[in-house]
Order: sequence, then C-alpha cells, then structure tokens
Amino acid sequence: MTSPAIPDPNRVLIFDTTLRDGEQSPGASMNLPEKLEIARTLEALGVDIIEAGFPVASPDDFAAVKAIAEQTTRARICALARALTGDIDRAAEAVRPAGARARIHIFLATSAIHRQFKLNKVKEEIVKQARDSVAYARTLCDDIEFSPEDASRTEPEFLAEVVQAVIAAGARTVNIPDTVGYAYPNDYADLITYLRAHVANIDQAVISVHCHNDLGLAVANSLAAVRAGARQVECTINGIGERAGNCSLEEVVMAMRVRKDMFAGITTGITSSHLYGASRLVQSITGLTVQRNKAVVGDNAFAHESGIHQHGMMKNPECYEIMTPQSVGVPDTNLVLGKHSGRAALGARLTKLGMPVGDDDLGKVFEAFKRLADRKKEIYDGDLIALIEEVVRGTTLSVWKLDYLHTSAGTEAIATATVRLSKDGTTVTDAATGDGPVDAVVKVLQRICGVSAAVEDYRLRAVTKGGDAQGEVSMRVRVVSPEAPDGVVVGGKGLSTDIVQASCLAYLDAINRSSYLIGRLDYRVTPTEEGSGSPGVRKSGSRTA
Ligand code: KIV
Ligand code: ZN
Repeated sequence: MTSPAIPDPNRVLIFDTTLRDGEQSPGASMNLPEKLEIARTLEALGVDIIEAGFPVASPDDFAAVKAIAEQTTRARICALARALTGDIDRAAEAVRPAGARARIHIFLATSAIHRQFKLNKVKEEIVKQARDSVAYARTLCDDIEFSPEDASRTEPEFLAEVVQAVIAAGARTVNIPDTVGYAYPNDYADLITYLRAHVANIDQAVISVHCHNDLGLAVANSLAAVRAGARQVECTINGIGERAGNCSLEEVVMAMRVRKDMFAGITTGITSSHLYGASRLVQSITGLTVQRNKAVVGDNAFAHESGIHQHGMMKNPECYEIMTPQSVGVPDTNLVLGKHSGRAALGARLTKLGMPVGDDDLGKVFEAFKRLADRKKEIYDGDLIALIEEVVRGTTLSVWKLDYLHTSAGTEAIATATVRLSKDGTTVTDAATGDGPVDAVVKVLQRICGVSAAVEDYRLRAVTKGGDAQGEVSMRVRVVSPEAPDGVVVGGKGLSTDIVQASCLAYLDAINRSSYLIGRLDYRVTPTEEGSGSPGVRKSGSRTA
C-alpha cells in the first residue's frame, strides 16, 4: 500500500478531535487557556493532527484555533468547515499561523436521510458542492481533508462517487465518518475495502475513520477499519464527544500496540507513557470524569482485587496484565518530590509526565507545590498532575476568589459555613446553615454570588493514597440565568487536603466558569444554514454549554 499520499504504509496517523468533537460533549466547553494547555499536551503526546475547532461557530472558536496554530510547533493544526466558502475562508484564516502545518477539514452530509431532510439536495448537487468546496479550499491551503458526513449510512456507490470527486479536486485525506455510531466492525471494514477497490484515485489520499460510540463500537470499528487499510484514526482523549462520544485515543492506540499480532508492523507517533496525564488533564478541564473501570486510564485498570489474581501477579505480572501501568504513565506511587525539591526538578518531572508547562505556569505550579509541601510531606506524581490542572483552571477563571472559609458541623450541631469571597477588589462575607457542611457552603456561595445553581453531580476522589491525600471534588452544576433560562451545565473542580474546602472550591469554579460560558451562548452555528450557502450565527438561550 505505498502511494504518494502514504509515504509509510505502516504508519497510522492519530488525528485528535478532543478540542472540536470532544468539546461538543454536553458540559465540556473549554476556554482559551484550557484549550492551549490541552493542545500542548497533545503535541507532547505525539498526535499527528490536532483538530482545534470550528472557527465559523463563534469568535471564541476562531480565536482558539488561531492561538493554537500560533503556539504549537509540530502537529498539523486543523480547522473544521462546512462546504461553504464563508466557513472555508474563516477556517483558512484561523489556521494560517500554522504555515505548512495547516489543514482545513470540510464536511458535507451524503446519506439519503441527510440529503432529504437536512440539506434538501439531490445527489448531483451534493457532488458539485463537495467538489467545488474542496477546489476552493485548495486555493487557500495545501492540506485539505473531506468528510462525507454519515458516510457509513450512505449508499456505497454514491459514497465512492463523492470520494473520487473530492480527491480529484485536491483532498489529501478522505474521512469516512460513522457519524451516528451505527456501523458494525465487519461491515465498516468492508466499506473501507469497497472504497479501496472502487475509487480509481484512492491511492492519492489517506483514508481516515471517525467513529462515534452510540453502540459502544467506536474503538472496534476504528480498529477493523485500520486492518482494512485506513491510515488515519480520528479520536478523542477519554473518548469524549457528541452524544456517547468518539473513539477513545488511549484505547485505540494501546489496542494496536498490545495486539501486534493483529497489527503487524503498524506504528503510531504516540508516546504511550503520556496517556494517563493527558487523560487526567482532559477530565479535569472538562469535568467529564471517566468511570473507574475505564480501559487503559481508569482507576481500576491496573488494580487486582482477588487473592488468586494477586498471587498470579506476584509470580508473573503477565498472568493478569497485558500492558504495564508504566507503559501508559499511571503515576508512580513512590515519593517523587519533597519540600526541598527545586523548580528545575519540578519542571523536569512534569515534562516526564507529558505535561510540559511554560515558564509563567511553572512559576505558579511551583508556588502551589511549595504550599502543598508545607501541608503534605510526600508528593507523588498524582499530586503533581492534580496541581497542574488546578493552576491552569485557577489562573484562567478567577472571577470570585475564596479568601476565608470556616465550617462547623457535628452529630448534634447545625452545620454552619462562614465564607469570605473577593471579586475585583471588593470582599463579601456571609454565613449560612445547611444539611451538612457542604450544603451550608453551597447555600452561602449562592447568596454571595447571587446565582441560582443546583448541584447535579458530586464526586470525591483521593488523588493519592494515605490519610493526608488531597481530595479532588468534581461537580456538575446547572446554573440558571436570564440568558439561559433552562440553565447551562457547568463542571467545577476543587482540590484540597480538606474535602469541605475542596467542595467549596469546586462549586466556586463552576460558578466562575458559568459566567464565561453564558457569555458564549450568543454565537452558535445554525444547523439549517448548512445548505443555504451563507455562514452565520444564531442566538440561543438554552444550549448546554
Ligand atoms: O461525526 C461526524 O460526522 C463529524 C464530522 C464533522 C466529521 O464529526
Ligand atoms: Zn463526529
């Protein structure tokens, strides 16, 4: 399978869309510094292409793609566009700072149901719009990817016609999305085989796959497609994405690595020991926590509970472990740094974890590290990962800041919380009672910040082992406001050795983030405009941000 488009037939390109499709997960909106942090982490992880956003969707999306194009150095930076000149112009402008690393990704639906109900177009019109949009995009950028949306439910002959037309117009990558997660591994592999046999110019493009997880088959479908000849996999960290999510990057990469018998000679550019850190960062920023038993990066992925398993592990870990925790970067439980460690040692350790931080952030992480070292003797990799997440979040959205917290509670006492917050140089102090200290804290914060925000989900996790471990609280909060009468669901996170304080910080983080997200609700792409030829925005008051 050698061709001009595929210099190394054994290399599978990893196209990460955490910042685009991943951000479409309900509640997963990210702000600019968070997106930049994820982009840096993806580069360190070794992904080949970062899909950084959908520039026409909002001024914020445009700014994020542009900043990522400016501040990355190695990965290709891709922007999504509908098959419309306005979208393509905006995408081209956003990725321009990436120079030769720039890519535009155009999509247009091809299935019968989308043609009839969404686009109201016949086949000939679709082929023309697809071809024209790619040809136009090629005048602005050398690297064009085209996606026939809902490809897996498109008539194969028509799909082949569209794919051939866009390659002839200059697309270098043709993506075959399983947009609604309907595909089944054998059929999906057969579709790739069919296209390889029936598209005359197929060797001039890389075949890509983009699988959604509605039936839990996204990884299986992607792997089947690679075995059938696809050489780009589109995926997200932790499998986040629209509805049930996308193919999970860590799972698909480790499956190809561990099952060398099924993927002989196949390589990716991923440094697998950075997978855990990347997963933690995305969980923290999006508030979408993975389940304990999640493959590869879940808390239980390497835990052995039963005596028989533990005995086998002691004799030979391979009895029950098909990959080592070290190979995916699960943090060392040995002491790694202490009170007397310096800034350089901290920086080196973070780089080793796949989370390099810039000089400014390193200063802030170092201050936080010193504060933690005063409270906690032994600092582990898990603590460092959590600290980075904390600093990145904390510096990005400091609207309300916690100055003081005192709670009292007990079996016979009414729980009371006294809180002092500051914002823009003013401080406010108030107190409230509640059903337990966390409830009292939530009530007083609502009063001070003047918001209506119900806690919909609350999770507490010990970051490391031991009685002095830091507690990490992740919350999902529905914030209702005049701009968003149905509410926006916002994730918040707080970290402290005191779990009531961690809860307070998590709730405050969610409130701070909500003011940013509600500000973004005004600019979203109208779905019905796809066929109309004019890009645009709509006002929406009820989007889940
Ligand atoms: O799922 C999908 O079809 C997409 C396209 C934009 C590639 O996300
Ligand atoms: Zn998708």
